Amino acid sequence: MPIESGSPGAAVELETRHLSRRAGERVLVSDVSVQVSAGEILAVVGPSGAGKSSFLRLLNRLDEPTSGTVLVKSRDFRSIAPRELRRRIGMVMQTAYLFPGTVAANIAFGPRQSGEILAPARMELLLERVGLPGFGDRDVSNLSGGEAQRVALARTLANEPEVLLLDEPTSALDEASARGIERLILDVVSERRMTCIIVTHNRAQAARLAERAMVMEAGRLVAIGPTSEVLHVG
Ligand SMILES: Nc1ncnc2c1ncn2[C@@H]1O[C@H](COP(=O)(O)OP(=O)(O)O)[C@@H](O)[C@H]1O
Ligand SMILES: [Mg+2]
Repeated sequence: MPIESGSPGAAVELETRHLSRRAGERVLVSDVSVQVSAGEILAVVGPSGAGKSSFLRLLNRLDEPTSGTVLVKSRDFRSIAPRELRRRIGMVMQTAYLFPGTVAANIAFGPRQSGEILAPARMELLLERVGLPGFGDRDVSNLSGGEAQRVALARTLANEPEVLLLDEPTSALDEASARGIERLILDVVSERRMTCIIVTHNRAQAARLAERAMVMEAGRLVAIGPTSEVLHVG
């Protein structure tokens, strides 16, 4: 499988080279080589169990590849300290895993890990950005699913990541909340010129968000290209 690249001319932000992970005899991710351009949104689609989440978890080293590697701006990610890597490559999962406590405490967590205090004005800007102005003092146990996912996104954005990994970020939400999160993703990715990889089982959503899509089956990359061509939607 040749290495596939995104927008010609744009710098490559993230590249996987023969990226693979086995767990015992099981192959979760098999020989995936792909390039993602700076500012691009790439959708990852494929049947349940295809290895989409496993692939995503390798990109910020939540799991370790058993062979192959990842380059971040041409630098091998094994030479980047894991904490630094996870700050630069943020992740939002299907369900927001928020810590018990206030919205503000959750959002301040990332910067505090790097020894930084998130100024109240920046906190409020982040809350406004995700459509939750004034929510800082609320307890996370009182949030709706959509609100919690917005907090999860704000918490990740507080780290000012270069790459945003999203694993089925709207699949636990009702259609209206999902559309709101989609809009938010499109806006923040273009404002911050972030690179984004979104796993979704929803082909229409892939078409709305991503210009390019890759299809995974049984751990392998089986197709990649413009979303409308690869998924026959749009
Ligand atoms: N830590 C693990 N050990 C063994 N098998 C796993 C592990 N994590 C996931 N799997 C299996 O690997 C396959 C790929 O899982 P996953 O990446 O979650 O797929 P997807 O996100 O596409 O639904 C599935 O069959 C799953 O059961
Ligand atoms: Mg998954």
